[in-house]
Amino acid sequence: MAEQPHTIEALFEENRTFPPSADFTSSAIVSSPTVYDEAGADPEGFWERQAERLVWRRRWDQVLDWSGAPFAKWFVGGRLNVTESCLDRHLGDHPDRAAYYWEGEPGDRKVLTYAQLHAEVCRLANALAELGVEKGDRVAIYMGMVPELPAAMLACARLGAAHSVVFGGFSAESLADRINDAQAKVLVTCDGSWRAGSVVPLKAMADDALAHTPSITSVLVVRRTGNDVTMVDGRDHWYHDRVDHQHADRPAVECDSEDLLYLLYTSGTTAKPKGIVHTTGGYAVHTYLTSKLIFDLKDDDVYWCTADIGWVTGHSYVVYGILQNGVTTVMYEGAPNYPENDRFWKIIEDHRVTVFYTAPTAIRAFIKWGDEFPNRHKLDSLRLLGSVGEPINPQTWMWYSAVIGKSRCPIVDTWWQTETGGIMISPLPGITATKPGAAMRPLPGISAKVIDNDGNEVGNGEGGYLVLTEPWPGMLRGIWGDPERYQETYWSRFPGYYFAGDGAKLDDDGDLWLLGRVDDVMNVSGHRISTAEIEHALVSHPRVAEAAVVGASDATTGQAVVAFVTVKGQVEGDEGESLVRELRDHVATVISPIAKPRQILLTPDLPKTRSGKIMRRLLRDVAEHRDLGDVTTLVDSSVVSMIDEQMRTNPAAGDEE
Ligand code: WT7
Repeated sequence: MAEQPHTIEALFEENRTFPPSADFTSSAIVSSPTVYDEAGADPEGFWERQAERLVWRRRWDQVLDWSGAPFAKWFVGGRLNVTESCLDRHLGDHPDRAAYYWEGEPGDRKVLTYAQLHAEVCRLANALAELGVEKGDRVAIYMGMVPELPAAMLACARLGAAHSVVFGGFSAESLADRINDAQAKVLVTCDGSWRAGSVVPLKAMADDALAHTPSITSVLVVRRTGNDVTMVDGRDHWYHDRVDHQHADRPAVECDSEDLLYLLYTSGTTAKPKGIVHTTGGYAVHTYLTSKLIFDLKDDDVYWCTADIGWVTGHSYVVYGILQNGVTTVMYEGAPNYPENDRFWKIIEDHRVTVFYTAPTAIRAFIKWGDEFPNRHKLDSLRLLGSVGEPINPQTWMWYSAVIGKSRCPIVDTWWQTETGGIMISPLPGITATKPGAAMRPLPGISAKVIDNDGNEVGNGEGGYLVLTEPWPGMLRGIWGDPERYQETYWSRFPGYYFAGDGAKLDDDGDLWLLGRVDDVMNVSGHRISTAEIEHALVSHPRVAEAAVVGASDATTGQAVVAFVTVKGQVEGDEGESLVRELRDHVATVISPIAKPRQILLTPDLPKTRSGKIMRRLLRDVAEHRDLGDVTTLVDSSVVSMIDEQMRTNPAAGDEE
């Protein structure tokens, strides 16, 4: 048995840096690094000054109360309704500015100005109130990407009720579990949603869930796709019947800064999803500020975050953070490759998008589809690009920068989690000389460290565990109904620190690189090696489109590196064997011989969750020839059976030693 290593080794080297142009810096919201010093000297004072830019009914008495750690209270005693900062405050200055440019998958479009969105939210709040929704209640939302979705979230917030949005790609069972855990009173859904040319029958799926959710008394159904649905008398109501005739005004309910704003369920290491608790004041301040500084938002920006609102990225950076800044946001209903692979680039051209925020998994798909699709469109409106969700391979970053950003747009690689509520580690686009693949530095007002097993800070050039060392305004306030699990999951491994579950390294300049979840960290011959770094190395080879690396148990080395690789173009005849050999040598050269994969399997696709994360747990099972468990959260579970089959029947696909 290899000895327990002390920390995570940092092996991948990337030395390119990309400072912003003088032009970008001169008009950027943050153009001087002194903001780090100001915030560092007095973080609470810093956050307090940000809070002053939002609409409050009553000012707070205390910025932070950490006496009940790890349960934080921010802006204690403050009273507000977050919809007043999102909507009402803009009615004076720019009621006719678009809040959402919405585009349906079939090509239909809608513009909702701030005034119209305000009116819709008020009408819907009136309708929900009629159905019995009161301050403190929970409302479940299970919808596609239609404008009624952000309206429903804001209508709940207007009433002081909490929303629990369940991503429309989840099954009826997942929906029922989440409704029951939250004890939601009302469900807002759609008849269906367009995805890749077909209707996802949301109402029918909701009906299966509703058979097991006694807490739900009413269901509101948006007519979107026009497919047949069953309406249960007395329980189910068409949205247009209940909402359209309502008054277009409804006073916002005054809430405490620490009142529940929403629950959002996320998976953990056990099967039971965690209801992540986010409250009002601190979350509003955190999402407002990070949107503004990181996306450098100005009045005339057209911002587009491609995330579904069912994920936290959509909550914070399609709805709350962005609306509080009063800018225009694009919202797109459907698939990126419908009707063709250039849909996103067409949307950017049509709406003159200036700031674009997407995920590495999407970027890797674009690379695979080919440059011809972005090259069909004018992307010159873009001035800033963002990435979120997983470590972005340096090679992917370079493509994003060159082909989408035309080597003109800074890239912000933003690290955060459902639990953190908002972005925590990211470049600031006007001042950071970015490095392809690095999230760089904690934001002003945020404190993070990389530590080893014993909790000691690692030095530059070393890897370890990422921890957050001070509370922050957007942080989760707990797990719904399970305070012990909250303490145990996040605060027990390193006492006094929030442990995010991610590995990270500091490079020679002290900049931060994320290395993936620590359960994606392998132990090879006593070396802890990050799967992400080997993936970076593989993707830096010109033939590789996408790579997933896992550790499989190995009699001699503890764990061995197994790589699943999809290549660009066709692999002809016995070219596969030589390519595999070449890739192994490539990893050895780029990283180190100890990182050389024992096995490389060339495969046409990789198994992914619906949010686009590669399912490394499943690939580990495949690599270790274990029976495959539950694969229902996968986009396409046939991919994994195919890879499994390939692995069992074709050991020659890379098994050289
Ligand atoms: C996990 C959180 C935050 C919105 C989407 C995901 C990984 C997220 C990055 C990044 C490297 C990243 C981490 C994190 N992650 N952003 N920029 N670089 N890794 O939210 O589902 O709560 O997942 O996503 O592993 O812990 P989530």
